[in-house]
Amino acid sequence: MCGIVGYIGNETAKDILIKGLHKLEYRGYDSAGIALVHENGTDVFKEKGRIAQLEETIPDNTKGTTGIGHTRWATHGAPSTENAHPHQSTSRRFTLVHNGVIENYRQLQREYLQEVNLQSETDTEVIVQLVQLFADKGMSTEEAFRHTLSLLHGSYAIALVDNNDRDTIYVGKNKSPLLAGMGAQANVVASDAMAMLHITKEFVEIMDQEIVIVKKNQVQIKTLDGDKVERASFTTDIDESDTEKGTYNHFMLKEIDEQPFVIRNIIQKYQNSDGNIKLDKDIRQAINDADRLYIIAAGTSYHAGLVGKELMEKVAEKPVEVHIASEFLYNEPILSKKPLFIFISQSGETADCRGVLVNVKKQGYKSLTITNVPGSTLAREADFTLHTYAGPEIAVASTKAYTAQMAVLSILAMDSAKAQGIDTDFDAMQELGLAANAMESLCDQKETMEQIAKDYMSGTRNCFFIGRALDYHVVQEGALKLKEISYIQAEGFAGGELKHGTIALIEKGTPVIAVITQEHINLNIRGNVQEVEARGANACIVSTDRTKEEGDHIVMPDIHERMTPIVSVVPLQLIAYYAALHRGCDVDKPRNLAKSVTVE
Ligand code: F6R
Repeated sequence: MCGIVGYIGNETAKDILIKGLHKLEYRGYDSAGIALVHENGTDVFKEKGRIAQLEETIPDNTKGTTGIGHTRWATHGAPSTENAHPHQSTSRRFTLVHNGVIENYRQLQREYLQEVNLQSETDTEVIVQLVQLFADKGMSTEEAFRHTLSLLHGSYAIALVDNNDRDTIYVGKNKSPLLAGMGAQANVVASDAMAMLHITKEFVEIMDQEIVIVKKNQVQIKTLDGDKVERASFTTDIDESDTEKGTYNHFMLKEIDEQPFVIRNIIQKYQNSDGNIKLDKDIRQAINDADRLYIIAAGTSYHAGLVGKELMEKVAEKPVEVHIASEFLYNEPILSKKPLFIFISQSGETADCRGVLVNVKKQGYKSLTITNVPGSTLAREADFTLHTYAGPEIAVASTKAYTAQMAVLSILAMDSAKAQGIDTDFDAMQELGLAANAMESLCDQKETMEQIAKDYMSGTRNCFFIGRALDYHVVQEGALKLKEISYIQAEGFAGGELKHGTIALIEKGTPVIAVITQEHINLNIRGNVQEVEARGANACIVSTDRTKEEGDHIVMPDIHERMTPIVSVVPLQLIAYYAALHRGCDVDKPRNLAKSVTVE
């Protein structure tokens, strides 16, 4: 949800900022802009649309070794050049970029800015006008900035520059992610370390309600009261090449192909040399102590949670509830006596999840975050964190993070079973190894998936996915993948539910994809396939047996029944990818979406 960057050093800032913005484009791509500060003032370039469009408008000879940049996912105010960041105060002395939502911006406008003629419809502009107002009243820039931040309610990651002081970027953070980075003769700020790996790998975290004064040779953190804060830096292990597409045309396809490696990496990371599971004993204890686990997540991560529930209940005999974060937030169910909250989030920044985390912490409950970004807000604020080790996921549609989440949940389930002395035949590590091989063999069948995508999805308006038990959760994810990137209306249904209403939508040629991997309901779901075929549907089956003779059939390798979601989702991801590709959609950056949803 919007990304920000800042650079201060000896190089011309323009190319450094643009490169950083490209890396952050997954966070929003409605509009983009940069501001460059030089001896004659501050130049602002901003444009509706993608960063590539912005680049075309910036002359090659732009000056300025200090600059800030922004890529936007619109919340307040439609995507337009006026609403794009950076925003400037009316005197043009101050220029600012912002990620987040200022909830009280209208009150602030009424209270302080009646006289100011605002240029945009954004909540952000109010911030920069307030800094100007307080500076005009005699405060230093730092004082005006701190005072302004103390008035804001909501979330923000802000970078501000001052025409009168080219050597400083003022940075503030509350709830929205932000890091400061230390390079050689240059310092940076970024919503995500990935954006500035071309300058440095050394970063320092910024906590909520802190500001940072960033100069070429210095990064000084302070509280909103102006007290200095000392904090050690860390070196990120993300490699710049992990954030590039390489030989692929799209990140999504690269990330689908990476899945077998991710699963093997997880096996290594969670296994001791003696073969036992490597897990913090406090996490083991927290799971053991809980009388019920509450999984909280959104979107694809929620779908991983649904599979996690099955694993935890069937393997470890732990009762689990799975909740959509935004629902749980304002509609909390009756809780058990000793709950443990498990947050599943690729980004670790999802605002709906964070809202729940804040609430359950207030109630004194323990929490565990399973995330792909260990330094993220949900990771920092929960009692415990588990890393999914999927590497940077850049395509907006989540693929490898989802399968990694399920892999980590399967390890947790097995660990919990062992810790309780439950006799189980489920060896997560061995089964994950087999699942990785199976994923690889499906990734090698791209031509088949592409043909199915062409045959089934070319002219269709809708598509149904059906499954039962564990397969039901996978088809929900398959439908989400298809709709978000190809814009085909797609839904995942429990096979047995069709005849209770949905089957009315089936007509001649309606594509139906059925996932069939669970032996005990094999005949039932095949019956459901016959029901839709009898009404004219074009059915394609993804299954582990080879009995279906007619129609399209993707046969997946035979693996442990509990592990099938990790594998059966791969053809669904590939079909979604090729469907979107052949319909001319922007696969990696689907309309209206952003990768990291930091607003409620
Ligand atoms: C869909 C997708 C989203 C995310 C959801 C939660 O492909 O990526 O549905 O899963 O926005 O995001 P995280 O996992 O970052 O909390």
